[in-house]
Amino acid sequence: MFETLKKATLDKIFVLMAEYAADPRTDKIDLGVGVYKDETGLTPIMSAVRKAEQRMVETAKTKTYVGVVGNKGFSAAVVDLVLGGTVDKSRIRTVNGAGGTGALSVLLNVLARARPGGRIYLSDPTWPNHWPLAEFCGLSPRTYPYFNAETRSVDFTAMMQVIDGLGPDDIVLLHGCCHNPTGANLTPQQWDQVAESLKRTGAFPLIDLAYLGFGDGLEPDAYGVRKIASSVPETLIAFSGSKNFGLYRERVGLAIAIAADAEAAEIVSSQMQNIIRATISQTPDHGAEVIRIILEDPALRAEWQQELEAMRSRMNRLRQKLADAIRERSNATDFDFIAEHSGMFSLLGLPQETVEALKVKFGVYMINDSRINVAGIPEDRIGELADHLIAATR
Ligand code: LMR
Repeated sequence: MFETLKKATLDKIFVLMAEYAADPRTDKIDLGVGVYKDETGLTPIMSAVRKAEQRMVETAKTKTYVGVVGNKGFSAAVVDLVLGGTVDKSRIRTVNGAGGTGALSVLLNVLARARPGGRIYLSDPTWPNHWPLAEFCGLSPRTYPYFNAETRSVDFTAMMQVIDGLGPDDIVLLHGCCHNPTGANLTPQQWDQVAESLKRTGAFPLIDLAYLGFGDGLEPDAYGVRKIASSVPETLIAFSGSKNFGLYRERVGLAIAIAADAEAAEIVSSQMQNIIRATISQTPDHGAEVIRIILEDPALRAEWQQELEAMRSRMNRLRQKLADAIRERSNATDFDFIAEHSGMFSLLGLPQETVEALKVKFGVYMINDSRINVAGIPEDRIGELADHLIAATR
């Protein structure tokens, strides 16, 4: 049987994680996979999460199935967090996903059933898993321009030239906030323009919302998704709880479908449930229940928000410190964009040879497109990292 198979290509993020783990150097620096890290390099369990888990252990009475749509309290709380009442609930249906990727996969499958082989436009560049996910679900991925490699900012004019030319059969995948991998994000005015465009052309928005709260804060980060969802009749949103709740391995996500009316919403809901049943049968609950407990309890919710805010401001401080250190040492402003980007990542715009040299010579690991995870910057060794970046790029 297996003789007919060829070796599949593994995601470069995981290849890099393995390389980093195998590197014996003690002064190596991990700017690779997108997980939050504290000043000790640990991806911590948030205190609100720990308390919610304790409560669960003490009060849970059963581990029986929760049903195909998943944890309804979690879903309702996340819908409120994401949409803040901007869309009438009668038009919204959800299923829990196994992580943000699981949610995305359900939604892509729904879209592939609605438009078999349909075109889906991904930002150039995008998260490396978007393309294979879309293909795996039976859609045909294409790209729209997004990043200006010279200014390291969004090339909005080029982006809109493509978006404005789409039609009702086209799907557009948008990063709700904290663009991965670039760190360059749309302004509220630009979101307004995207919403206007989608309204005019009828192109279909699918929003990947994996980093809510990591950019400018929970409310500002939700601007784009709320704007789109309240402007057009139909929107799909994939929410992830991996980063903002630090629940990576629990695989907690939510697929949110907004339809034109309640009747259409019921049809989409039945499709999502059918996809869950045919793929994973029932959704995992541990992480969803943790998030439900946190969001429904005012004290725990406040504690979580405080912790999230501390993570966000730490990442912003690291951005600023690295940009400052490079400027002070090199007298050049060509890395100032790191402080202007937001979210967990910045795309440095370095050629692959430079990325390779940083790894081989200095043990500085980043994704080969030169994406860095800002949370991985070691605060006590920023000068050293700045020196390495300067040495490799001059
Ligand atoms: C990343 O982009 O590094 C994270 O989202 C982890 C992943 O699954 O790729």
